[in-house]
Amino acid sequence: MITRETVDRIIEAARIEEVVGEFVALKRRGTNLIGLCPFHGEKTPSFNVNPARNIYKCFGCGEGGNPVNFLMKHESMSYPDALRHLAKRYKIEIEETAPDPKEQELQDARESLYILNSFAQKTFSEQLVENEEGKSIGLTYFKERGFTDETIEKFQLGYSIKDWNSFARLAVKSGYQEEFLEKTGLCFRNDKGNLIDRFRGRVMFPIHNLSGRVIGFGGRILKKDEKTAKYLNSPESDVYQKSKSLYGIYHAKKAIVQKDTCYLVEGYTDVISLHQAGIENVVASSGTSLTVEQIRLIGRYTKNITVLYDGDSAGIKASLRGTDLILEEGLNVKIVLFPDGDDPDSYARKYPASDVVDFIERSAKDFVVFKTGLLMEEVSNDPVRKAGLIRNVVETIAKIPDQILRSMYVKQCSSLMEIGEGVLLNELNKIRRQQLKKESPEDNVTELITETIKPELPLTELNTEEQERNIIRLLLNFGHLKASYTVQENNPDIPGQTIAVTYEPFVARFIVEEITLDNIRFEHPVFDRILSLYAEQPEETPFLDPGFFLRHEDAELRDIAVELLSPKYELSENWSAMHGINVPLEEHNLISALEKSVFHLKKTKVMRMLEESRTKIKEAQHNGSDVVPLLEQHLRLEQIKAQISKALGIDILR
Ligand code: CTP
Ligand code: MN
Repeated sequence: MITRETVDRIIEAARIEEVVGEFVALKRRGTNLIGLCPFHGEKTPSFNVNPARNIYKCFGCGEGGNPVNFLMKHESMSYPDALRHLAKRYKIEIEETAPDPKEQELQDARESLYILNSFAQKTFSEQLVENEEGKSIGLTYFKERGFTDETIEKFQLGYSIKDWNSFARLAVKSGYQEEFLEKTGLCFRNDKGNLIDRFRGRVMFPIHNLSGRVIGFGGRILKKDEKTAKYLNSPESDVYQKSKSLYGIYHAKKAIVQKDTCYLVEGYTDVISLHQAGIENVVASSGTSLTVEQIRLIGRYTKNITVLYDGDSAGIKASLRGTDLILEEGLNVKIVLFPDGDDPDSYARKYPASDVVDFIERSAKDFVVFKTGLLMEEVSNDPVRKAGLIRNVVETIAKIPDQILRSMYVKQCSSLMEIGEGVLLNELNKIRRQQLKKESPEDNVTELITETIKPELPLTELNTEEQERNIIRLLLNFGHLKASYTVQENNPDIPGQTIAVTYEPFVARFIVEEITLDNIRFEHPVFDRILSLYAEQPEETPFLDPGFFLRHEDAELRDIAVELLSPKYELSENWSAMHGINVPLEEHNLISALEKSVFHLKKTKVMRMLEESRTKIKEAQHNGSDVVPLLEQHLRLEQIKAQISKALGIDILR
C-alpha cells in the first residue's frame, strides 16, 4: 500500500488546473478557472476549478474533488493507479507498506500481463528494424504503405517472425511465465500441449489503453491469403476487453478535447494514416460494431462524433443502427462518406493533409439528415414504404434525449421528407410514450416531465400591459388606414391550384378581429374599454376619430389617448435629416406592425398558459394521476409558441 505520507505529498504537489487542463479547455474567471464539464453534457460552462484549494467542482452535475478523484473518474483509473500516475508526473517517490496479499496477487497478475505485452511490443518492434525477415518483409510493407519512421515509432508498430514458437522461446528464456503467455493470448497450446505463437509472419499493431499501456495486438498478414483472416487480434484477457477499448484512444484523447470532436474510423490503418496527415482526434472501432461503453469513453472527451465510412462500405445501413446508439447516449453524430473505393487511409495517402481536413469538414452530414436522405433514395415514390421510412426516422429522433434537438430534427426531416411537422410530431410522441411505458415507468415519466416543462420566465415578466398599450397605439393612430396583404388561397375555379388574393381591411377591423376571434380580453381596464368601443363600430367605418378620445370626459381615457397619439420619438425624421438615411415608417408597412403587435401579445399569453400547464402537470404528478394528456397539451402549446416566435423572427430556442 502507498503510505499516507506519500499520498499527501502527491496530492499537495499535483496542480488541479494542470491535471484537469489536460482534458478540459479552461478559461480564467477571477481566481478560478471554468470550462465545460467533462462528466455531463453542457453548452455553458459550470465546471469550476479552484487552484487555491486544489479542487474542482461542477455546479451542473455536482461532480467534484481533488486531482486524484479527477483522474479516477475521468480516466477510469483505480485509486493507486491515479496516485502512481501523479507521482510520476510530479516526480514524487512512492513509499509503500506491505500489501494485502490477495489484493496484491490480483494486481500482480494484471501487472504481469501488462509487462509481458510490453515485452512483446518491444520484441516485435525490434524485429521490424533489426531482423532480416522483419526488415525485408515487414518494414518494406509499412514503407510501401507510406508510413514514416516517426509514425512507426509513435504507434510502436512491429513484426512477428514466421515461426511456430520463436516468441514463446524468447519470452520463456527472458524469464516470463508460460501461464501469462497464454493469458495474454500471445501464445496458445496445441493438441500436444506445446506453446505456439499466435502471431506468425504478421505486421503488428499494438493496442493501447487510455494510459498508453499495451493491452493487446492486431496482426496483419502481408499476402492475400484466402485461408487466413487479414487481421488476427488478441483474444480478450484481464487487461483487454474489446467492448471497452478503442484503437488509438491514447494517442487521440488530447486532440479530441482540443478539437471537441472525435473521428470514428473502421481500421487500424485509417487511424495511423490520419495521424500522419496531422489529424489526431481519431479512433477506430476495429471492424466491430460500436458498444455503449466505447461511446461513453469518447463521451468523456467530447460530445461530438463524426463517423467516417469507407466509400465501399457495404454495411453502412446495418451500422446505422449502431450509430443510433450514439444519439441515445446524448452525443451528436455526423457522417462522412468517402468516395467510392476509398477509406480514410487511402484518401489520406492520395491527397495532401489539408485536403483531407477540407474534405471531412465539407462533407460531414448530420446523421439524421444523412439517414433520411439514404432511406428516401430507396423508397422513392412508394407511399407504403415511405410510411415505414417515417417511422424509422422518427424512431431515431426519439432516441435523442434533448427535447430541443428533437424538435429541430422534426422540422428538418419534415421538409426533407415533405411531410407535415404535425404528422412527425404525433409519431414521435407515440414512440416516446411507448418507450416510457416500456422502461421503468416512474423514473421516465419524471424525466419526461422535467424535460418537457422546463421553467421559463417568472410570471411577473409575463405581463401583457405593454403589448396591449402598443396595440391600442396602433388602433388610435392608424385605425382609419387600410392595411394590405396578399395570401395564397385555393382557386375555387380550378381545384388543386392556388391563387394570390389581396385583402385590404381597415387596421381597426384587423386588430379587433385578431383579438376577439381568439377570445382574448385585454387585462388593462382602460385598454379593454378602448378596444370594446372599437368593436362596437359599424363594419363599413370600424374606426373612431382621435378627437373623440382627446376630448373624452373620462380623464383616464383622455390621458392615454394623449400619450399614445403623440409620437414618442421622431426617429425617422431626425435620422433622415441628420444622416440622409431613410428609415421605414410604421405606416408604410402596416401589416407587419400589426402582426408583430398581435403576435407579441399572443406569445405572452401562450407563455402564461405554459406556466399554468406546468403547475397542473406538477400537481397531477404529485397526486399520481395521468400526466400524459397534460404533457401532450403542453407540447402543443410549445408548438404554438414556436410558431409565433418563428413568425416574429425570434430564435425559437428561447
Ligand atoms: N478487421 C479484423 N479482422 C479482419 C478484418 C478486419 O479485425 N479479418 C478489423 C481491423 O481492425 C481492421 C478493420 O477491421 O483495421 C477494418 O477492416 P478493413 O477495412 O478490411 O482493413 P483496413 O484497416 O482497411 O486494413 P488494410 O488497409 O490494411 O487492408
Ligand atoms: Mn484499408
